[in-house]
This record gives sequence, C-alpha cells and structure tokens, in this order.
Amino acid sequence: MGVGRALLRCLVSLWLMINVTVATANFFKPFNVSYDHRALIIDGSRRMLISAGIHYPRATPEMWPGLIAKSKEGGADVIQTYVFWNAHEPVRGQYYFEGRYDLIKFVKLVGSSGLYLHLRIGPYVCAEWNFGSNLLSPYTFKGFPVWLRDVPGIEFRTENVAFKAEMERFVKKIVELMREEMLFSWQGGPIIMLQVIENEYGDVESSYGQGGKEYVQWAAQMALGLGAGVPWVMCKQSDAPENIINACNGYYCDGFKPNAYGKPVLWTEDWDGWYTTWGGRLPHRPAEDLAFAVARFFQRTRKGLTHLDKLPAWFQYFGGTNFNRTSGGPFYITSYDYDAPIDEYGLLSEPKWGHLKDLHAAIKLCESALVAADSPRYIKLGPKQEAHVYQVDIDSEGLNLTQFGNQSRCSAFLANIDVRKAATVTFLGQTYHLPPWSVSILPDCRNTAFNTAKFIVPKEESYISKSWMTIKEPIGIWSENSFTVQGILEHLNVTKDRSDYLWYTTRIYVSDDDISYWEEKEVKPMLTIDSMRDVLRVFINGQLIGSVIGHWVKVVQPVHFLQGYNDLLLLSETVGLQNYGAFFEKDGAGFRGQIKLTGFRNGDIDLSKSSWTYQVGLQGEFLNIYTTKDDEKAGWSDLMAEAIPATFTWYKTYFSAPDGTDPVALDLGSMGKGQAWVNGHHIGRYWTLVASRDGCQRICDYRGPYNSNKCTTNCGKPTQTRYHIPRSWLKASDNLLVLFEETGGNPFNISIKLHSVGIICGQVSESHYPPLWKWSQSDIVDGTVYINNTAPELHLRCDDKQVIASIEFASYGTPQGSCQKFSEGDCHSPSSLSVVSEACLGRKSCSVGISNTVFMGDPCRGIVKTLVVQARCVSLSNDLGAFRL
Ligand SMILES: *[C@@H]1O[C@H](CO)[C@@H](O)[C@H](O)[C@H]1NC(C)=O
Ligand SMILES: *[C@@H]1O[C@H](CO)[C@@H](O)[C@H](O)[C@H]1NC(C)=O
Ligand SMILES: *[C@@H]1O[C@H](CO)[C@@H](O)[C@H](O)[C@H]1NC(C)=O
Ligand SMILES: *[C@@H]1O[C@H](CO)[C@@H](O)[C@H](O)[C@H]1NC(C)=O
Ligand SMILES: *[C@@H]1O[C@H](CO)[C@@H](O)[C@H](O)[C@H]1NC(C)=O
Ligand SMILES: *[C@@H]1O[C@H](CO)[C@@H](O)[C@H](O)[C@H]1NC(C)=O
Ligand SMILES: *[C@@H]1O[C@H](CO)[C@@H](O)[C@H](O)[C@H]1NC(C)=O
Repeated sequence: MGVGRALLRCLVSLWLMINVTVATANFFKPFNVSYDHRALIIDGSRRMLISAGIHYPRATPEMWPGLIAKSKEGGADVIQTYVFWNAHEPVRGQYYFEGRYDLIKFVKLVGSSGLYLHLRIGPYVCAEWNFGSNLLSPYTFKGFPVWLRDVPGIEFRTENVAFKAEMERFVKKIVELMREEMLFSWQGGPIIMLQVIENEYGDVESSYGQGGKEYVQWAAQMALGLGAGVPWVMCKQSDAPENIINACNGYYCDGFKPNAYGKPVLWTEDWDGWYTTWGGRLPHRPAEDLAFAVARFFQRTRKGLTHLDKLPAWFQYFGGTNFNRTSGGPFYITSYDYDAPIDEYGLLSEPKWGHLKDLHAAIKLCESALVAADSPRYIKLGPKQEAHVYQVDIDSEGLNLTQFGNQSRCSAFLANIDVRKAATVTFLGQTYHLPPWSVSILPDCRNTAFNTAKFIVPKEESYISKSWMTIKEPIGIWSENSFTVQGILEHLNVTKDRSDYLWYTTRIYVSDDDISYWEEKEVKPMLTIDSMRDVLRVFINGQLIGSVIGHWVKVVQPVHFLQGYNDLLLLSETVGLQNYGAFFEKDGAGFRGQIKLTGFRNGDIDLSKSSWTYQVGLQGEFLNIYTTKDDEKAGWSDLMAEAIPATFTWYKTYFSAPDGTDPVALDLGSMGKGQAWVNGHHIGRYWTLVASRDGCQRICDYRGPYNSNKCTTNCGKPTQTRYHIPRSWLKASDNLLVLFEETGGNPFNISIKLHSVGIICGQVSESHYPPLWKWSQSDIVDGTVYINNTAPELHLRCDDKQVIASIEFASYGTPQGSCQKFSEGDCHSPSSLSVVSEACLGRKSCSVGISNTVFMGDPCRGIVKTLVVQARCVSLSNDLGAFRL
C-alpha cells in the first residue's frame, strides 16, 4: 500500500501538471532550476531525481513513446541523452533534425510524459558512437562530423581557434533551438540541465597540457554565456570551473566528491552494463550489484559534506541499436543492448528492470528523510556491516513512531560489504539477515512485493525466403571517380567516411628471374605493411588471397605472382571509427608506415611511393541498389542453392512481415561479414566473428566489485547473429531485404525471429513484519500506530498486447529452484494452482496476496512461506484462439 499510495500521490501531482499544461499550452508551469551543496533545486525544492539514459537515434521515433513510458514506470524522473553532432550537421552548416534525429520531437515527448530532460550536448560524446561525437556525420567520428577533420588548422578538443569556433557554433545552435521551441524549464519545458565539454574530458585533459586547461575554462565560459538558464554539467572533470557541476561516471560512485563546496553530487553515468566488440563476449552486470552500487551511493557521506541529494543516471536505461554505420570503434557491434533494463527491442529486461523499479521506489520513499536530515547517523553493526540512519529523532529505544505521520517513513540503509558472507545484525531491536554485498533500505526492501522475472523466448524461426537474387560486386576499380596518385593516402582523407571500403590498387611486374629465384631458393615473396586497422583484404589478379583483422597491427602476408604484370589490390575497411582517447581525430584509418614486397631477387620493393589508383566504396552502395527505388538498377539474377557465390556478392529477396506486434529480428547467423538494408533502411553492419571459448563464467556471482569481464556469456559463439528490424520499417508484405556479403554465407538460411516475452516468473515471500513504509498518517490514532494486516502481493504482468495463457507452476509454501526450474518443497499448499489460475488466467496482469487467508489455510505453521509462479504469456493477436477468455 505504501508504494501504491506514493504512486497515487505522484499521479495526482502529475495530473495537476497536465492541467497546468493545458492552461499554458506547454509541459510544465515554468520553473527555475538551481542547486546547492545538497541537491538540485527544482522550483524551490531540493529534489532527488533518478535519470534514465535513452539515445534517441538508437531507436525509431515510433519506439520513443514506449521507451519513455517504460522508463517512467520504472521510476525515472529524468531522461538523459547525448546530442549527436555528426548526424545533426552532416555537412558543415547544413542541419538535419528529422526521423531518428528529430531531437525536438524527442524532447517534447519526454516533456509531455511529465519527465524532465538532461541534454548532454558535448559536442564530443564518446558514446561508442562513430568518431565519438557530433562533429563528423554519416561522415562521423564518435559523434564528431568527419568534415571537422578537414577544417584548416584544426586540432580537436583543445585550445584551438578553429575547433572552438566550430564547437561554439554547434552548441549555440542547439541551445537556441531549444529556446525557440520553449523547451527549457523556465519556459515550461522539460530541460533542467545541460552538459558541455564534452564528455569525460578529464580522462584525456593532461595529454593536451596547458591547452587542455584553457579549453575547459573556455568551454565553461562559452556555455554559461549562452544564457540557457539551467545548470551545466561536466562529467569526470575534477577541475570543473565555478558554476559548472562536475559529475561522476562509473560502476560505483559512492566515494565521489564534487570539486567544490556548493555543488551537489551527481552521478551522470551509472554503467548498468557494457558494450562489446565483434568477436567479444556479451557482458552482463547483475541487478543485485547495481542495486548495491546505487544504495551505497545514497547511503554514504563524506566528512564535512553531506551528499544527501543526488541524481543517479542509468547509462543506458535503454541501449538500442547502432543503425547505419553509427557504431564507434574500433569494432563495436551493431547491437547496443548494453544489458540495459529495457532491451534493444524495447522490451523490459528482467529481472533487472523490476529490481531497479523496486529500488527506485524504495529510494523515493526515503526522499523526505534524505533531504530533511542534515547528516545521517552512522552505526557500526559488525566488522563489515554498517547502518546509516537518516532520521531526526532516534533514541536508544528505537524510532519515535509519532514522527511518522509527516516525517519520513524510510530512514536507514543497512549495508553488508562482505563479498562472501551473509550476516545477521541487530538494528534498533530488530534482527536482519543481510546477504553478502548488499544494502537493505529500511523499512525493508528485501521482501518486495514486486519481483517478477521475465524471459524472452524467441519464437520459432521461419526462413525468410526460398527465392533469392544475386549480383557480384566488382573487385577493384568500378567507376570513373577513381583517381591515381603517387604514394599511400590516409583512408579517411579519401573516403570521408562515406563508405567503410577503400580500394588501393597497383601493378607489379614480375620477371622470369624472380620466378626462378623463388623456385631455386625456396623463398616466398611477402607483402608487409608496418601497421593497419581494421580489416584488410588482399587480392592478386582478382583473387582474394588473405585477410587481416586488427587495430594497428603489422601485416605479413605471403603472396603468389605470375610472370608479367600482376594486379595487387588492397581493400581497406573501417569497422567503426575511433571514438575515445586524446587526439583520436589523428588516429585515422587504413595504413601507416611502409608497404613493401619482400623476397624479390633484386631486394625489397617499396610500394609506399608507387603509383596507386584509389576507389572509394562499393558500386552497389553508390547505385543505392538497396533502396526500393533503385534496386532494379542492378542486373540481378536468380540465385541457385547449389551455386552460391562466396565473396563480394549482393543478395536480395522480398519477405512478408510476421503477424502481430512482437519485435522482429533478422537472424544472419548463416552469413559472414557485410551490411544489410530493409526497405532502404540500413540495419547496420553484420559479422559472425566468434568470441573466444574462454572467459565466460558458469555462474554469475554478483558479489564483489564489477568489471566488464565479470559475468560474460556467449563464449565460442558469434557475438551477434540477430539484428533488430524496427516494426515501423516493415509493411505487411513485399519487404525488400538487400545484403552485401564479403566473405561468404548462405542466404537461404537467413531467418526471421520474433523477440517476445514467453515465460514470466514471480517470487515473493511473506513478510516477517509489516514493512514500516506501509504505515501512514491514517494508521496513527492518538499517537498509536494501528497496522492493518496488509499482506504483500505478487504481481505478474505480460508485455503489451499479451495475456496470461497458462500457469505452468504455482506453489505457496517452500518452493525451490529458479525460473523454469521450480519444484515444490516440503511445504506446499494444495490450492496454489487453483488460486493463482483463478486470479490470473486470461488477464494481462494480476496480483495474488501472500497470506494464509488467500490460500485457504496455513500449509505449515511457523514457517515463512513463499509464493512462486511461472506463467506463459501469449500475444492476443496471434494466439487468442488457443484458450478461452
Ligand atoms: C526564475 O528566475 C528568474 C531570475 O531570477 C526570475 O526572473 C523568474 O521569475 C524565475 N521564474 C520562476 C518561474 O520562478
Ligand atoms: C542511414 O541510412 C539511410 C539508408 O541507407 C540513409 O538514407 C541515411 O542517410 C543514413 N543516415 C545516416 C545518418 O547515416
Ligand atoms: C515522540 O515525538 C513526539 C513529537 O516530537 C513527542 O511529543 C513524544 O513525546 C515522543 N514520544 C516518545 C515516546 O518519545
Ligand atoms: C506534522 O503533522 C502534524 C499533524 O498532522 C501537523 O500539525 C504538523 O504541522 C506537521 N509537521 C510538519 C513539520 O509538517
Ligand atoms: C589528410 O589530409 C590533410 C590535408 O587535406 C593532411 O594535412 C593530413 O596530413 C592528411 N592526413 C594523413 C594522415 O595523411
Ligand atoms: C540451414 O541450417 C540448417 C540447420 O542449421 C542446416 O541443417 C541446413 O543444412 C542449412 N541449410 C542450408 C541450405 O545451408
Ligand atoms: C486500517 O484499518 C482501520 C480500521 O479498520 C481503518 O480505519 C483504516 O483506514 C485502515 N488503514 C488502511 C491504511 O487501510
């Protein structure tokens, strides 16, 4: 009920806001945002806010409302996003704010849902995004547009006149756009905070010497000078100037102190998962450890500074997909799922989402105590156990309950930082069992009434098509746009990132003497390159003879030549541009150092100064043969199952969308490496590079500090085989799928998979005592608390447009095991199944009370009972006939 009531209160105030909205035709009544040493101050009140990261271009506009709603339901007050410069300014001075880059629409959706927004302009954003920023466009570097490299005299991210001018122009553009659209809080909009310079600059600042320091000062003055009227943040910036809040990013931020008194504690990125690379394992951060980290953040204080009010922000709350070629690098995969609470497809990822929702609710219930109490009282409970109590009146007897009417009902955090052992402690006369590496928020949040686990069960696959067409991509030069120069040009200088691919071709003369020299001496000629990234494919006379994958690695490739002239082709490929580090704009791509042929009779041949012909991109890319408009430009022919061409081939087919609304994925596990488009939308790069066999853990132990090598899965399997096709990109039938395949694969085995919630599980135990937070003013009569016997409840909920079709397991008693492996224990109520079925079958969601009354009697006296349920959800549209409502 406590939670229910808190939610109710929140809904009431939301309703008031909406009313106001109607009156002013905006989202909120205009309010100011400021801060002090304790908190952000929203409209005059110190607030403790929870923020959820959603990067708008990593989803479609059709997905945005659902993602925002799920964030809000999960307890977020704020949505945070970066702004992606390269996409918004693909060509210098030409701005783009449409489709997935419709920033204004996104901000307005956040506002209309009653949430605030933290806009992180950067403009360098890192974000595992191509070129790290906003500067370099489809032509990008982690967010930097690639054209930025070509601005004369430019040096990124430091005291450099050209760079500062470009940066200021873009930051100003965004701030002005937001102001024109009335999106700042003081205009009644949702934006309460901004971020500049840029992102985690503190990590690289020292590489820039004095220039770096001056750049930080300049950025602060530039930002403050824009008159945006809301606070600015720099993250990981321990020398943040006055009037700029420096914030923490990391797995844990409980030890973080702002760099000056008068700034609140903000945690701008709480890494709830991690990203991965092609050939990497899939990282998972356990929900228990996340909850521990956040609870510790709220729990701990530093001497002299009370960090009571904080903004922890989930990075990412939704990760999404790196559509097009927006993945950063080197080698970041197309999926940006991030193991976030909302998965790549927009479905809740359980148990993480539910666990964090509980955590947010518990913390929210502490808000009044946390902002009221000046500093918590510290109580040592054991060698590695401690309590922090936020309560004005505590005496040795315990809490003065009459306070509870209008003081906080939630006041203490009990931590057990022992990474191995559980502990039993006594706190204010009560006994508590603390699991290892845990924080209990009191009143209790261990016996939560909402602890549902859901499992995504992909529906059976269907092969996408029996009928495919194909066309070969020319090997080497295919257009009149090729050009010839002496020497080796840097890859990005030539491609401007318009394509991943750049052909370098030259001609080698091999004499009879060379051939006989190789035969006599049994030597083999070699191609050597001092250094290259990301992928190199070597062709001689049109035949692929070798490939190299790596990040600035040396190449030593045996080659075979015929007598006479031989065509040597080097195909250099980028797989996500650098997006992190100092001077990354100078990292470039392609080759560095010398390119030589060794083992020739007259000594090595230095090819670095030879005449080379350059060709950017693939013919198919430049003819747009993946679009419904232009695909007929190519001379497609039918593909025969017996004779599938291996390398450098385009494939196309048409397919029908699966019925229903479940998210759709393309399974490309039968293919090699390439890119895919559906109805002209670029769904991203694909690659079936396999992760190493070692390094995965059989059991994920959440205890102890997390790092991205802990709790990984997917060893020995391709890192990514499923690729999200947003529903809004599909029509009922005749969807055009086009693939470019480099290394070979079988398109006949490409399948469509539905990503849907199949099984849901829930587990809730009887409370040992009524949690304190269930008490309210109305329970206090003449100074005495009357606690009504409100039992905890188990809630089950299927995803949107689904209902509960069957109860596969239910036991009230002492059941054992975990989801999909439950079994009855010694104690089991015979009415378990019928009670749960009665309450849940045919419904989208249901609640079952955890009490003997509900289950018609006590199955085992004196033992704490648990209710466990496993149910199956089905989509209404597909499977309605399977059962009666
Ligand atoms: C916000 O602050 C400004 C400057 O102090 C003030 O003029 C304005 O009235 C305030 N707005 C609100 C809604 O409080
Ligand atoms: C993404 O891909 C689509 C389709 O290929 C293309 O039209 C669009 O320009 C690309 N956008 C960006 C930002 O690269
Ligand atoms: C509890 O607090 C109230 C209000 O501060 C006070 O009047 C009352 O005496 C306290 N009761 C006890 C048992 O300390
Ligand atoms: C607490 O509640 C009492 C009775 O409802 C009220 O008289 C008092 O003003 C409240 N105190 C505070 C600090 O809100
Ligand atoms: C790229 O081109 C610019 C001039 O256009 C040149 O200054 C720079 O050295 C080139 N970079 C490399 C790595 O060749
Ligand atoms: C497709 O995959 C299935 C199962 O992996 C395999 O048995 C079959 O041979 C494959 N078909 C083709 C045409 O490669
Ligand atoms: C608890 O029970 C009392 C008496 O039956 C009732 O007046 C009160 O409203 C109940 N409180 C809650 C929170 O349900």
